[in-house]
Parts: sequence; C-alpha cells; structure tokens
Amino acid sequence: MSDTSPGGTSPEGAPPGGAPDGGRAPDEGSAQEVPVSDGPVGTPPGAALRAGTSLDELERRAAARRDRPEYGHDALITCDRLVRVFTTDGVEVQALQGLDLLVREGELMALVGASGSGKSTLMNILAGLDEPTAGAARVAGRDLLAMGAAQRLAYRREVVGFVWQQTARNLMPFLTTAQNIALPMQLKGPGGRRARAHRAERTGMLLDLLEVSDCRDRTPQQMSGGQQQRVAIAVALANEPSVLLADEPTGELDSATGEQIFAAFRAANERLGTTIVIVTHDQKVATEVRRTVAIRDGRTSSEVLRRTEVDAATGQESQVAREYAMLDRAGRLQLPQEYTEALHMEHRVLLELAPDHIEVRPDDAGHA
Ligand SMILES: Nc1ncnc2c1ncn2[C@@H]1O[C@H](COP(=O)(O)OP(=O)(O)OP(=O)(O)O)[C@@H](O)[C@H]1O
Ligand SMILES: [Mg+2]
Repeated sequence: MSDTSPGGTSPEGAPPGGAPDGGRAPDEGSAQEVPVSDGPVGTPPGAALRAGTSLDELERRAAARRDRPEYGHDALITCDRLVRVFTTDGVEVQALQGLDLLVREGELMALVGASGSGKSTLMNILAGLDEPTAGAARVAGRDLLAMGAAQRLAYRREVVGFVWQQTARNLMPFLTTAQNIALPMQLKGPGGRRARAHRAERTGMLLDLLEVSDCRDRTPQQMSGGQQQRVAIAVALANEPSVLLADEPTGELDSATGEQIFAAFRAANERLGTTIVIVTHDQKVATEVRRTVAIRDGRTSSEVLRRTEVDAATGQESQVAREYAMLDRAGRLQLPQEYTEALHMEHRVLLELAPDHIEVRPDDAGHA
C-alpha cells in the first residue's frame, strides 16, 4: 500500500483534528508526533494529512504507536489521568484533576503540596480506601478500579501498608506492640505451627529493624508518639507489602522525633526493599529523599530530583538538586506563575522549536 490518499481517514479511526478541546488526548503521545516540518509547533495531525503525508508514513507512525510500551508498564505505581470529584450538598470539589504519577519499584519518594491540593485523596485511592471518579490507577499489577470487595480487602492486607498522621489511628489500643505487629499476619492466613513460627520470627525482625524491641510488651498508651509511629511502620510492614504509604507520618511529632521516623522509613526501604511514598509538610524529609513530587490543584506540577556529585578535582561530594516541570501525556505543561508574570504572559504564547529546546515567548501581536 504505497499510494497516498490525502484526506482519508486517519489511522486507528482517530479524528483527524486530534483531541477535542479540553478532552482527553486520543491516545498517548500524539502531541509529540506532530510533524515539525509541516508547520508551527502544535500543528494538529490532520494538517499533516491535508499537506499530503504519505500513507506509508502514517502507517509507520501508527505501527510505532502500537509497538510503544503501555504508559507506566515498568512502574510499580501508575496513576493515569486520575480524577476524583467529591459532591457534598450539591457542591462539587475536584480534588484530583487528571493526575499522572509513576513510581518505580524500590523508590523512597516524597509528595508535597499546599493544604487541599489533593495529597490525602491520592493516598486514599492508592490505599484502596477510595475509588477515583475517572482515570486509571495500578499498584503492583492490580487495577484499583476493577477490584471487587474481596480483592480490595486482600489488596489492603497484603499489597499496601499504611501509616496515618494520627498516631492513635495506627494501632489497636488494647494490644501490645508484638500483638499489634502479629495481627495483620493472623488476619491474612490460617494458623498452624509453621505460620506461628513465621509470625514470631517476622515480629522479632521488625521490632529489631524499627528499634522498638524494648516496647515489645507495652500497649500504645505506654509509649511515646515517636515509638508509636515506629511500631505503626512495623505493623504496616508485617505482611511484606509491595508499597508503604504514609500520610504526614511526622505531622504530630517534634522535628528530632520526626527525623527518627524518617530514618525508620529509610531503613525499611534499604533493608527490605519496600517502595515508600510519604506525604509530608516537613521540609527536612522532603529534601532527604532522591525525588520529591509537588501536587498543585489536583495534578502533579513539578518534581525535584537530587543526586550526589563528586568533584573530579577535589573528590568532594555534594548534593545537586534539580527542579523539573511536569509534561503530561497530552503534552501540557504548567509554567510557573512567577515566570509568566515576569514576562506578562497571559492567554497565549509563541512556541518555537530549536534543535535542543523549545522557546516560549510572549505574544507579540497584542491582544486580539
Ligand atoms: N470526603 C470528602 N468530601 C468532600 N470533599 C473532600 C473530601 N475529601 C477531600 N475533600 C476536598 O478535596 C480537596 C483535597 O483534599 P485533600 O484532603 O486531598 O487535601 P490535602 O492535600 O491532603 O490537604 P492537607 O495538606 O490539608 O492534608 C479539598 O478541597 C478537600 O476539601
Ligand atoms: Mg491531607
């Protein structure tokens, strides 16, 4: 099939004009596939058809799109355009507005953002406690929108562990530390001598890892807030979850105790390999992880990556932090408000493609 048929239907039956305004992109990455030579950046795929792009070329692009791995295929946590709308007394609150997030297996990362930006809403969805209104969420191969009640319960017991801000909420008040840690394991499986031996061994290992062996036979009210939170981490790790989620785990603690809690998360991540996502307002915690993702208005807006660099001349190590803006799957980018205000950018801007970057300039035509 080498003859061209401009004006024919686009591959895979997609509308030639691309995504309808404000709607979802027809499929991933179409915005990146705009042929640059055909016009200014942003030329819709339909323009390429009208300009006489060969059918061979269109077929090649469609095949490339089909062969491309699925979004988030190698991530442990995938949030794909997650939406959560709450309706109370007829008033709608859009807590998540198309949030994208990928977390790799073995990561220890922080989520930050202003109050009300949607952090807890996201954590509750990932914990299997709440369901999104739209979008997709997968954790360790489980589709969070397709789980039945029994699967959801098993997911909460075995795949994710959760640590809440309120220390009292994490533990059974009438059980000792050792009993609190053993409880999730008892709920998960049948008894028997081997199961009991495994539980005792794992409880001992977790008491040791979280440095709370001296609290083994105490109930929560006989422990400090910091000790309770470390026991809470042990409880959350009892069933060897793939992911540990923590929502403001140091929020009720002073900064020195908060640092100990963070050290406990780091130990769990390094020694057990558990993937950990921590929501925090604590600047210190946020700067101690390799990756911090910021949420703004229900979307991931920016990301800071930190790495250690060694000076070739002196051999001295230093931490280098770099902030990135997030580019979503439809090609949308949120420019920082201070940048757009500094150059009086509003309503529309000019884009130009350079060999290794894209220029964003103020609209020079004035306001039409
Ligand atoms: N169950 C609910 N019913 C109605 N609205 C809700 C509900 N839960 C959250 N919201 C609203 O959704 C938005 C996001 O709330 P969320 O709790 O996710 O924010 P947050 O980022 O965790 O804030 P904070 O830092 O204060 O904990 C807020 O406007 C909140 O009022
Ligand atoms: Mg919250």
